[in-house]
Amino acid sequence: MQQIKDQQLVKNFSYINGSWHSSASNIEVTNPATGEIIAKVSNAGIEETQLAVQAAKNAFKAWSAKSANERAKLMRNWFDLMMAHQDDLGRILTLEQGKPLAEAKGEIAYGAAFLEWFSEEAKRVYGDTIPAPSQDKRIVVIKQPIGVVAAITPWNFPNAMIARKAAAALAAGCTFVVRPATQTPLSALAMAELAERAGIPAGVFNVVVGDDARGIGEVLTQHPDIAKFTFTGSTAVGKSLISQCATTVKKVSMELGGNAPFIVFDDADIDAAVAGAMVSKYRNAGQTCVCTNRIFVQSGVLAKFTEKFVTAVKALQVGNGVDEGVTIGPMISASAVADVAKLVDDSIAAGAKVVLGGKQGQGENFYQPTILTDVTNTMPIAFNEIFGPVSPIIAFDNEDEVLAMANATEFGLAAYFYARDIGRIWRVAEGLEYGMVGINEGLISNAAAPFGGVKQSGNGREGSKYGLDDYLEIKYLCMGGLDK
Ligand code: SIN
Repeated sequence: MQQIKDQQLVKNFSYINGSWHSSASNIEVTNPATGEIIAKVSNAGIEETQLAVQAAKNAFKAWSAKSANERAKLMRNWFDLMMAHQDDLGRILTLEQGKPLAEAKGEIAYGAAFLEWFSEEAKRVYGDTIPAPSQDKRIVVIKQPIGVVAAITPWNFPNAMIARKAAAALAAGCTFVVRPATQTPLSALAMAELAERAGIPAGVFNVVVGDDARGIGEVLTQHPDIAKFTFTGSTAVGKSLISQCATTVKKVSMELGGNAPFIVFDDADIDAAVAGAMVSKYRNAGQTCVCTNRIFVQSGVLAKFTEKFVTAVKALQVGNGVDEGVTIGPMISASAVADVAKLVDDSIAAGAKVVLGGKQGQGENFYQPTILTDVTNTMPIAFNEIFGPVSPIIAFDNEDEVLAMANATEFGLAAYFYARDIGRIWRVAEGLEYGMVGINEGLISNAAAPFGGVKQSGNGREGSKYGLDDYLEIKYLCMGGLDK
């Protein structure tokens, strides 16, 4: 951590009600590329979580009463500070998460973009008037912040997943408590330091770092003073959190697992398809919910696509994300590597062929960038989220067949396809049962777009003009007695 120029960004305590809280024990934060312990962070628990909820409740009145312009100014300050410290924040992120430095700095800009976007959207929380059924009445609709928001966020985007939720919540006038993943708390705490410097008042943004996932999770999903709960993570965990939220009927938004198909049709620009597959598959070593999980290639271009794709994947430079030239880092843990290795080994046993990689890499947290061919849509690798740098290629003959295969999953987050025929583009875009579709594009995430899934990939949308709705209540005002 000595590499960080502004050492005040390196924090070891939870941030509650505008101050840093120490606890009796510590959590060790490890660099996944080297196994080195890079920091020890105080291990907060149920008590600190309750304090944070109380602080957010107390801060709500004043924060929600600020004008949209006032909130926007403070959020804009926060955005400016994040961008001014992009290098340090990116380095902290690489050290705790593993992704290459350029990608980590990209994540900081991506996270900051939500602060910028929602600072502007804060001014556009419009209401409505509705023609009433009788002359003596008027119907007015206003939107109000929902209240205290609780969030649990993952290790794969330690900055952007917090920023995406907090920015919308704060812009709407809500206050916020987040439990970041214990593997990557340093990025969250650095964000809190910058929130304070930006002038975000005490209690509005709170970060609780603790390894009692169940205890902290129960407070955040069941506390009566929390109005809304938002989560990014696996579908299995999301389902159990949703059921916990039912006890207090919280508004819930969930960004859960995916099983993204990436379809290459005969009429596709193959070079563009290869570039799209590289970014949608190997970004963050394959550890994103929107990562390509299955590559479907039409028979006529199978050989050509595979050959070019193998060449591109071979050119990836695997290593420690802080090293010059590295384009793909480690996975988050040895157990994540073991899960990926099992899916690959099971596929091979079922008849898949390894054309590249297929083995653990140069350290216990590394897995080689891998390509499998002769995969079928019924192999376990095709219906489990891989969350690692492995590309299974499945051949297909026609549009109906590939649409049926692409949709044969309980997930519905992101899908991608490459084609040129305009009729096909509309048919396939409309036929894919997914919340987001990249058409001749492999990188679809940005602050202006509504990020979210259908089916068991979750509900709610983050980013875009729709992103505020999840943090607002609609109130209907009926004015009567207006007759003379
Ligand atoms: C995720 O993996 O959950 C988010 C990916 C993204 O925002 O692009």
